[in-house]
Amino acid sequence: MNDTKNKVVLIVGLGMIGGSIARGLKKANPQRRIIACDTDIESLQQAVDDGIVSQVGELAELSALADIIVLAVPPLTVCELLPEILKFMAPTALITDVASVKSHIFTSSQQFSEEDLANFVPAHPIAGSEQSGYAAAVSDLFEQRNVILTPHAGNSTDSVAIIHALWRELGANVLGMTRFRHDEVLAATSHLPHLLAYAIVDVLLKQEQSEDIFRYAAGGFADFSRLASSDAKMWSDIFVANSAAVEKVLDDYIQSLLEFKKAIQNKQHGKLEESFGAAKQARENFISQHFKPKKQEEMISNQLSFSVQPGGQVAGSIRVAGDKSISHRSIILASIANGITRVTGFLEGEDALNTVAAFREMGVTIVGPENGALTIYGVGKNGLQPPRKPLYMGNSGTAMRLLAGLLSAQSFDSELTGDESLMERPMSRVAEPLRSMGANIDTGDSGTPPLKIHGSKLTGITYEMPIASAQVKSCLLLAGLYAEGETKILEPAPCRDHTERMLQGFGYEVAVNEEEGASKVVGGADLQATEIDVPADISSAAFFLVAAAITPGSDLTLQHVGVNPTRIGVINILRDMGANIESSNERLVGGEPVADLRVRYHPLKGIVISEAQIPLAIDEFPVLFVAAACAEGETLLRGAQELRVKESDRLDAMAQGLNALGVTVETYQDGIKITGGKISGGAVDSFGDHRIAMAFTVAGLRAESSIDIANCTNVATSFPNFVELATEVGMRVTAQKS
Ligand code: S3P
Repeated sequence: MNDTKNKVVLIVGLGMIGGSIARGLKKANPQRRIIACDTDIESLQQAVDDGIVSQVGELAELSALADIIVLAVPPLTVCELLPEILKFMAPTALITDVASVKSHIFTSSQQFSEEDLANFVPAHPIAGSEQSGYAAAVSDLFEQRNVILTPHAGNSTDSVAIIHALWRELGANVLGMTRFRHDEVLAATSHLPHLLAYAIVDVLLKQEQSEDIFRYAAGGFADFSRLASSDAKMWSDIFVANSAAVEKVLDDYIQSLLEFKKAIQNKQHGKLEESFGAAKQARENFISQHFKPKKQEEMISNQLSFSVQPGGQVAGSIRVAGDKSISHRSIILASIANGITRVTGFLEGEDALNTVAAFREMGVTIVGPENGALTIYGVGKNGLQPPRKPLYMGNSGTAMRLLAGLLSAQSFDSELTGDESLMERPMSRVAEPLRSMGANIDTGDSGTPPLKIHGSKLTGITYEMPIASAQVKSCLLLAGLYAEGETKILEPAPCRDHTERMLQGFGYEVAVNEEEGASKVVGGADLQATEIDVPADISSAAFFLVAAAITPGSDLTLQHVGVNPTRIGVINILRDMGANIESSNERLVGGEPVADLRVRYHPLKGIVISEAQIPLAIDEFPVLFVAAACAEGETLLRGAQELRVKESDRLDAMAQGLNALGVTVETYQDGIKITGGKISGGAVDSFGDHRIAMAFTVAGLRAESSIDIANCTNVATSFPNFVELATEVGMRVTAQKS
């Protein structure tokens, strides 16, 4: 369906961008027919002589011949040309463009509606240079560069898929944004810098000795003014088309200049140095994060540590970030569904964003996330494209294991990698059962990543999981969607069932037999797009549940928390310990139970944690151990060896930290015993584990002096605004670079 290789492409505007598209498409498929129109006859002739373009002519005539029309012209010209193109083009043909502004098309005097432009999928390649004209065109301009699609409500999934495929053929990474967000972001990152470059040249030009100034201007001027060599018509168009967004960011910039002016007038050396220092640091961070390969030293120098002052309060009403497990699954299932899925409440943490990036790499158009909202243009069960590079799953075991199941059944090969912690985690637990379904997977030494997956035809199996792992279960269910026959997974104890619930939401039948502990799918059916509202993550809420439970005087409400029965171990265990947790406003949101939870202080007592609760609270133990340290008497957990193979060895990491804070702890191969008592202050290490870092932050509420927590950067994997929310409710935590 989205094979664009043989489509006739009309390039309207054969300048640097249009010419590069023509060259790139011709290189990708020398047989392809490319036709072009432009007001510059010489460029057209050159392209014909180069063998790139096979036919040139008038817009009306060529529009009728094309399958895909690429408008490589300035933003206002896009609006001017559209009426004529719409009149002459074939009804099945599609249009895309390259303009650096997107909203203006719908607000222009031509008054196009989204319906009028159903066949127009707007695009903006973030590539180019200050050069212009066909002579500057190169075939690899878009390779590994970002192209932002801004599809609108009038576009079908098929149209979006075809335009996506066209840009992918040029080697681009295809991202998605709403047109509103696109225009805001571009105003700040591209339009403003261009304006400043034009302005500085203009200022110097108007100085009396402008000749001298230009003659002696050294590197700084040349660097700064490079963008002022850009095409004048194009850029005047861009500012007119994006005037509202540019005006907003320009006001901020003018304000900043006035502040600098005042500091210079008043010779405020310290203030200038501070502002310059902050800007220098911000730029270096941004360069190291986004442009250079991450080197070990840079990662370490970018490490955050937390400093927690003793005491503080826990009061108010908050909504924590979206559920990580559900966020991952929403992307995976929506990507392979037919149709357009909208997701709200999505967790914009690094783990889930790596999953978004992986599916984009496999050809799925994903718009957002913007304030937790995403639109996913599903490509259908067999529509994923072979990834062009290893898929990086960051810190996320869930993403790697779930994708292993899905990718095993594709018709292409793939490779999954991750960060230092993930590269140490056990993958045989998924590789082995997948192999018995017919999968062809190579793991690294001792069953660890990278996973090299050779797509295969799979056959359903019945698999009795040796451990209650939702990741393993979900991996096999995803493989089972493609397998011949029935795939049945038996779990030794109930573990989270989001995959089963969400599959049903996508119209895929899953047979769940709770008594038997079985989940079953039959391969071969399709998924239909749906709407998903991701509840707040109970695993993130857990830090605040414990915070309020251990702090005298606290009264905290957590809104819209996912309270799926397979996830509420933390509530059960805390209540067993004596915590006062009230649940209200219980409702079902998109197949997942949700409630508001109110927690008030009540003294806790130590307990023996029932083994049945372990899979239901598997991620919440670090903070539950903090609760145990604040409880009267001993708390004992056994049968929890799984905690040794999470993002860190959580039994050892917590035991070491609690020990350092003066708490009496004993560990076992499969558990821990904690004796409640005083928490002193001190220095602890999170070992790069987000949940250990947040657990020790909570411990600060009952500590006698401050707690310094090292290696906290990974909090961003699951709970990017943790420090802000913790501060909002009255905890005394600050993050700093270490
Ligand atoms: C998860 C399952 C759990 C949990 C992880 C998320 C999931 O792992 O620890 O954070 O989304 O399926 P296991 O099921 O392997 O214990």
